[in-house]
Amino acid sequence: MHIYFTGIMEERRLQPKDDLISLLLAAEIDGQKLTSDEVVGFCILLLAAGNETTTNLITNAVRILSEQPELQQELREHPERITSAIEETLRYYPPIVAIGRVAKETVELNGQMIQAGEQVISWVGAANRDSAQFENPEDFISDRKPNRHMGFGFGIHFCLGAPLARLEARVVLHTLLQHMGNIQLVPGTALQPIQSAFVFGVKHYPIQFNLINK
Ligand code: HEM
Repeated sequence: MHIYFTGIMEERRLQPKDDLISLLLAAEIDGQKLTSDEVVGFCILLLAAGNETTTNLITNAVRILSEQPELQQELREHPERITSAIEETLRYYPPIVAIGRVAKETVELNGQMIQAGEQVISWVGAANRDSAQFENPEDFISDRKPNRHMGFGFGIHFCLGAPLARLEARVVLHTLLQHMGNIQLVPGTALQPIQSAFVFGVKHYPIQFNLINK
């Protein structure tokens, strides 16, 4: 990816276009520009952070729709509930279930000592099912309120692309539900999890459906 993005960056340096990489090259804060490594690093982060995550959110949402068929009709009749159903998908089947951190200082947390410099994995997927935070955490409640899930992280590193991801999921679900009825997983499909401790999703989720004629 480093080689791939370095090539594009060099092209844009010679011939800027109306795109993000050209904007990053031109960006200046207090007279300081981004280094080449920073531009390439940001591109790699954006490609990884903004692509597979949204793909999995959409797939996980379709999975919920097929696991809970009554939800399809509910959202078709009440499209205004799609927004909260997406939030509930981010809680119930979050595309990212774990976030890594390094402790800046030694702290005690719930009787556990964490030394400065140690790596910590916070299981946001588990936090999303915490009964102290969520009533009936094992139930998918499409209009759950409040829904303080951690699907987009927390604090200063809260997902930069959250509004875009939410918009993409909203457009996709709205469109799918307009055109597809009775969405089901193709019978006999064996689901294969994505091989990652940090990502929750499946490699393929083949569906069958009836076309809705308008
Ligand atoms: C459903 C889709 C998405 C999910 C579930 C998701 C999840 C997350 C999470 C959990 C974090 C926090 C990481 C941490 O604290 O270490 C994060 C950060 C980030 N996300 Fe997303 N993301 C999604 C979509 C996107 C999109 C579409 C973009 C960009 C186009 C994006 C760009 C970023 C960036 C740049 C960060 C780093 C922010 C920082 O460190 O300050 N994400 N995302």
